[in-house]
Amino acid sequence: MNGVEFRYLTDGEVRQRAPEIWQVYDAIFGDQSSYDDWLDGMLLRHAARDHFRFSAALDGDAIVGISWGYLGAPGQYYTESVRAAIGDAAADLWQPAFEIVELGLLPAYRGSGNGRTLLRHLLDGIDERVMLSTWDDDTDPAVRLYLSEGWHRIGTHPKADGSRPMQIMGRPRGGGPQLRKD
Ligand SMILES: CC(C)(COP(=O)(O)OP(=O)(O)OC[C@H]1O[C@@H](n2cnc3c(N)ncnc32)[C@H](O)[C@@H]1OP(=O)(O)O)[C@@H](O)C(=O)NCCC(=O)NCCS
Repeated sequence: MNGVEFRYLTDGEVRQRAPEIWQVYDAIFGDQSSYDDWLDGMLLRHAARDHFRFSAALDGDAIVGISWGYLGAPGQYYTESVRAAIGDAAADLWQPAFEIVELGLLPAYRGSGNGRTLLRHLLDGIDERVMLSTWDDDTDPAVRLYLSEGWHRIGTHPKADGSRPMQIMGRPRGGGPQLRKD
């Protein structure tokens, strides 16, 4: 698909456009029980965290891809789950990290470079360590993307709902592609 643009949504836009973000999220991931649970339990909870950033792929004014993350902190579920999985010594090397929560595009917009652009846009200017959890399958498109962007596997832990193991991947400080400094 041509004509896709990438831009950060302000906190106000994230709140205002939450129903549209949900529709995209649900079409891509389909793993949350309801809009209300997702809104309060994920999107707005994350939006309140340090250095929250939301990057959207837009076709015209329509959101067709979403990604967001924040700087993790002790006491948060994900930060502690990673620490328990990789141990204190490794966690002390990897944390604090910018934690990517979601990255995804509607199916019609995949396979033409939009995913890589969205990932780079989300991380533009972030020199901090970066971390996420994804499928424990090195043939998965997302894993291929992260590997090709200088990420590597640092451990495994259970998915939050306990349904399957997830691969923890990280990009070291300054270890990604050249970042814009303007
Ligand atoms: C992961 C995702 C965002 C990639 O977006 P995309 O626009 O298809 O990816 P791109 O076209 O930018 O491709 C970037 C790289 O991803 C990998 N990739 C993309 N599609 C792939 C496929 N079908 N099979 C294997 N690798 C693939 C390749 O490494 C590719 O680089 P290359 O083109 O140089 O080979 C997209 O597949 C998606 O939304 N998936 C569903 C949601 C998801 O799983 N998100 C990750 C959660 S952590």
